Amino acid sequence: MLILGIETSCDETAAAVVENGAVIYSNVVATSLKEHSQFGGVIPEIASRRQLEYINKVTSAALDKAGVALNDIDAIAVTQSPGLIGSLLVGVSFAQALGFALSKPCISVDHIKSHIYANYLSTKEVNRPLAQAKKELPFPAIGLVVSGGHTSLYLIKSLLSFEIIGSTRDDAAGEAFDKVARLLELGYPGGPIIDKFAQKGKPTDLKFPEAKLKNALDFSFSGVKTAVLYYVRGCRNKLKHSIEDVAFAFQDSVARALINKCFEACRQYKAKTLLIGGGVAANSFLRNQLIEKSKEHKIKVSFPAMSLCVDNAAMIAGYGFHLAKRRKHV
Ligand code: KG4
Ligand code: ZN
Repeated sequence: MLILGIETSCDETAAAVVENGAVIYSNVVATSLKEHSQFGGVIPEIASRRQLEYINKVTSAALDKAGVALNDIDAIAVTQSPGLIGSLLVGVSFAQALGFALSKPCISVDHIKSHIYANYLSTKEVNRPLAQAKKELPFPAIGLVVSGGHTSLYLIKSLLSFEIIGSTRDDAAGEAFDKVARLLELGYPGGPIIDKFAQKGKPTDLKFPEAKLKNALDFSFSGVKTAVLYYVRGCRNKLKHSIEDVAFAFQDSVARALINKCFEACRQYKAKTLLIGGGVAANSFLRNQLIEKSKEHKIKVSFPAMSLCVDNAAMIAGYGFHLAKRRKHV
């Protein structure tokens, strides 16, 4: 069964063709990221205008790359929420119109759950059928979605059963990376840049705090962001540590908080698997630390391939397959 996925929740315009929720035939992403970088964040009006321009071309490219025609598609899956309202509107209107014209079902997909589902897609790095992926990543699982807009922990009992057990009280992890990079005048988006700088940094006497919250599974990143701001202000024009070491200390604080909560959730819910998703899941330090700690805790940890951590439509088409099956659409 072939699903055409459409994703337009933020600055990207993406389309993909995925077979049976696992095999990616094509995965095309266009982005207006460069146009936003001068503002230090995504400008919704620019994003949705570009999406209107790109959506036809990106969809045609995804079909061409997959070597299929529109009529070969069994259903269309589209990101319904969460996201920028104008951007979502472009994708949903396009997908619904396409479904109507082709007399094919149009399935609404939750963007956050699909970030977790990216772990079950077959890629060049991890090439495996869905049945094998399910065997290797058994439930109950704890899911951590760390993106520019969300930081949430889920108890996942099956691919279709997600229960939220923790979330951020203020900034999302990716948002904190973006804001701290801006503060350090490193550019936008901040996550990949801080990741790079921190790789050349080392642990020093500089430590940023980790928030202590009543609900042990909630997050807060506004404190660490403010701590970096006060540190920079306190240094006036000259940082007391190298920028690489500051990046390392900040990243270490965010990673520690994420890791501690993940394993606390695994312990509380007796989870067998830890599934990570979202843009921050591409962070090299977080990945390495989680792999190390998962050995200690004897928990299987999984990350999507790098290209599937950030927003894409393959995860939408992949997860859409299971929703379509449940509704007996395909
Ligand atoms: O999932 P995503 O592409 O979009 C949203 O749904 O928000 O995530 C984007 C976020 C940005 O905040 C970006 O700075 C962050 O992911 N990010 C990273 C890395 N790559 C992207 N954060 C830390 N380390 C990275 N390597
Ligand atoms: Zn996302």
